Order: sequence, then structure tokens, then C-alpha cells
Amino acid sequence: MIERIKSGVTGFDPLVNSGFVKNSVTTLYGSPGAGKSIFCTEFLREGIKEGEKVFYVSLEQDLDSFLKGCEALGFNEFRQNLNGNFIFTRMTGHDFKNFLSIELPKILQAREGKHSRIVIDPLTPFLWEIKDAALQRTVLADTFKMLSAFGTSIVTIERYGDINKLDLSEELAIPLYLSDSVIILSMIYNQNFYQKSISVIKMRYSGHSAGMHPFDINDKGIQIFQDQPVF
Ligand SMILES: Nc1ncnc2c1ncn2[C@@H]1O[C@H](COP(=O)(O)OP(=O)(O)OP(=O)(O)O)[C@@H](O)[C@H]1O
Ligand SMILES: [Mg+2]
Repeated sequence: MIERIKSGVTGFDPLVNSGFVKNSVTTLYGSPGAGKSIFCTEFLREGIKEGEKVFYVSLEQDLDSFLKGCEALGFNEFRQNLNGNFIFTRMTGHDFKNFLSIELPKILQAREGKHSRIVIDPLTPFLWEIKDAALQRTVLADTFKMLSAFGTSIVTIERYGDINKLDLSEELAIPLYLSDSVIILSMIYNQNFYQKSISVIKMRYSGHSAGMHPFDINDKGIQIFQDQPVF
């Protein structure tokens, strides 16, 4: 039987048969400012509320700025559980390959046990560093396998280019193929405003919505309007 876990994102679970498949890896791909980090934060917050160990790996943001973002949304659980059920690691420097292949497995092994949620936000610096497709595939396949053994994960990838085009370029092919699920956050320009929208492109072992669903972010977080068309 396929076990599922709640996403923690308002309006998301009905799009995917009531939640993420347990021990799956999802790539969340999206435009700048579309809401990738907030989606991941809500996903981890749900885990903290359920008493799970959760783990945020940032290849960009430091802890203070992460906690500041959480507090702006009223997500006080992160500070309260810091270094207990919530661990934050920031990868600095340039050797992302070493980090994913050596450091991250060590940290995960040390926290083995209870079912957990993991976020790597964003994975993009690693993709820039390793241009060689074969090496990128090997490292990512191993990383995703390790993440699946440990818990349920989301990795984010930043999306550039024309925001009105669904551009799944070849450079991003490997993580999108290797992950169990792919979710896209887009901004659609219409009559002088940008409407945020979410689509589930694939989800292994699961039925899912084929639509584009509008969503908003307000001071409580993300709200997806699953029954409304984008325009
Ligand atoms: N309190 C709030 N009220 C309204 N909108 C908010 C609020 N907080 C954040 N937002 C929206 O969320 C966006 C930032 O979300 P988030 O940081 O998750 O995006 P991201 O996709 O991770 O961006 P980046 O590409 O910079 O990593 C802001 O640009 C804004 O549109
Ligand atoms: Mg972000």
C-alpha cells in the first residue's frame, strides 16, 4: 500500500490524492519569488507539528534570514524546535559535490530513526557546479536514493527565462527525470498583474491533477485555490 504524508500547504493535498508519497523525492521548480522556499517551509512545519525530525539544507540562505522569514509568517515552531526536531544546515563554499556525496550522508546518518522530512533549497548551485551530465546523474541518483531511505524530500530548482513559457530545458533534465515528482510554480502575466500558479507535472505511484491552479501568498502562507482555473 502507498503511504502518504500531508504536505502542510493549504489546498495542495487534494491535487495529489491526499499528500506526498512517503519516502519520495520531489523537485519543486519555479520562478524567482514564486514561493518555493515558503512551500518547503510549510512542508517541514507540518512535520514538526507531527513530532517528526525535519531538516532544512540551504545552499544559499543563512539561519537568521530563514528564521526571519518564518517569523514574518507566524511560523514560530522553527525557532522553538531549533537543534531539536528542527535542524538547519547551510552549505557554504563551492564544493557542492563533496557536500552532497560526503557531508550530507554523515549528517543524515547521525539523525537516523524517526520518519523525517528533508528540504534542499535550492539545488541549483550544485547543477551549475557540475556541468558534466554523467557525473551530475551519478551524484544526484545517489543523493536521491539516500534521501528516500531517510524520509520524504523536496529539492528546489530556480527557473529563469520567459515566465510565460514552460521551459523545461535540457540542463535541468537530470533532476527532473530522477525525482519521483515534479511540481512547477509559475507566474502568469495577465492584465497588469502576475498570478502565481502551481502545476503537478508528474507524481510516481499516484494520480494527480493535470491543471494549473492559482495560488496566493499572504501573511499566513500559501493558499491554493484547487477548484479555480488560472483565469
Ligand atoms: N507576508 C507576505 N504577504 C504576501 N506575500 C508574501 C509574504 N511573504 C512572502 N510573500 C510572497 O512570497 C514571495 C517569496 O516567496 P519565497 O521566498 O518562497 O519565493 P522563492 O520562490 O523561494 O524565491 P527565490 O527565487 O528568491 O528563492 C514574495 O516575493 C512574495 O510574493
Ligand atoms: Mg527561495
